[in-house]
Amino acid sequence: MRVQSIAQAGKSEVPPQYIQPPSDRPNSDADGKSGSGGGVPVIDLGEDSVREAVGRACRDWGAFQVTNHGVPIRLLDDMRKVGLSFFNECPMKDKLMYACSPDSAAAEGYGSKMLVESDENHGVLDWRDYFDHHTLPLSRRNPSNWPHYPPNFYRKKGKRSVDWVLVAQKLLGIFSESLGLPPSCLKDAVGEFYQNITVSYYPPCPQPDLTLGLQAHSDFGALTLLIQDQVSGLEVLKDSHWYTVDPLPEAIVVLVSDQTEIITNGNYRSAVHREVTNSTGARLSVATFHDPSKTRNISPAAVIVSQSSPSRYREVNYGDYMSRWYTKGPEGKRNIDSLLIGP
Ligand code: OGA
Ligand code: NI
Repeated sequence: MRVQSIAQAGKSEVPPQYIQPPSDRPNSDADGKSGSGGGVPVIDLGEDSVREAVGRACRDWGAFQVTNHGVPIRLLDDMRKVGLSFFNECPMKDKLMYACSPDSAAAEGYGSKMLVESDENHGVLDWRDYFDHHTLPLSRRNPSNWPHYPPNFYRKKGKRSVDWVLVAQKLLGIFSESLGLPPSCLKDAVGEFYQNITVSYYPPCPQPDLTLGLQAHSDFGALTLLIQDQVSGLEVLKDSHWYTVDPLPEAIVVLVSDQTEIITNGNYRSAVHREVTNSTGARLSVATFHDPSKTRNISPAAVIVSQSSPSRYREVNYGDYMSRWYTKGPEGKRNIDSLLIGP
């Protein structure tokens, strides 16, 4: 059952499988407050002190927004518009022609469940529908799996994926330099980008206090770039407080992901984030994930580890890491924490 269909039925209560346990509900901050003032940083990539600002944001937050990133706002608006028209204008029976398999992790297509069916995760469902596209490398790209509606879907989504690669490469270069490393260090450690683009649609929810659009997690890849519409809902965890990522139409949200945390030996931490729902308006986001190949082994970069600063993470095969994430569920950062070496 798609969340959009449940929402359109207009019931005043959500089905029980969408109700989060009390500890995970949106107003369950450690001390009941949500963050105020000095929120998620916004960084102008054209400013002189960009390395320091990005380094600080990666260390303190694992998340920030960037402006002056080189992608024209017209293209960001196009991506939002094309994504939204799939959810809003394509009839449900046509959308279901693209339904992705509920049994395999990260399957391409139209779906609602993030995790695979397993006894190992808590199984509460997210209040979200999505469309996931495999965009890069080109050998993974199969536009016949992508919506034929709206008609310009392929042109708008597919052709744009390289714009995101350029931003991701630029950011990984700045990350490396801000750690005093050669600019290509992180990019080389990640290897060829495996890129997915996920359009997420969060319908209005009659019980926003009991549900989450997306449960708390850190992204398991290397770097996530995300654009959102004007409806807020994305939150980042810092020092036990949740901070809203304010919608800025021209900005791109950057989320440091788990493989970057491993490669930087924990100097930069992946961001724990979640999505809260609201009862009044639907929300749309487009996330572009840049990940290593499943065959790649990831470990702290050799230039970072030394006798005085030994490896803090065990080497891991990225494909294994990803499938564990989908089976066990993210539960905060349990997956990456299981790689930690030492006390
Ligand atoms: C994700 C994610 C947040 C959002 O897809 O991993 O965190 O705002 N999305 O859609
Ligand atoms: Ni995420």
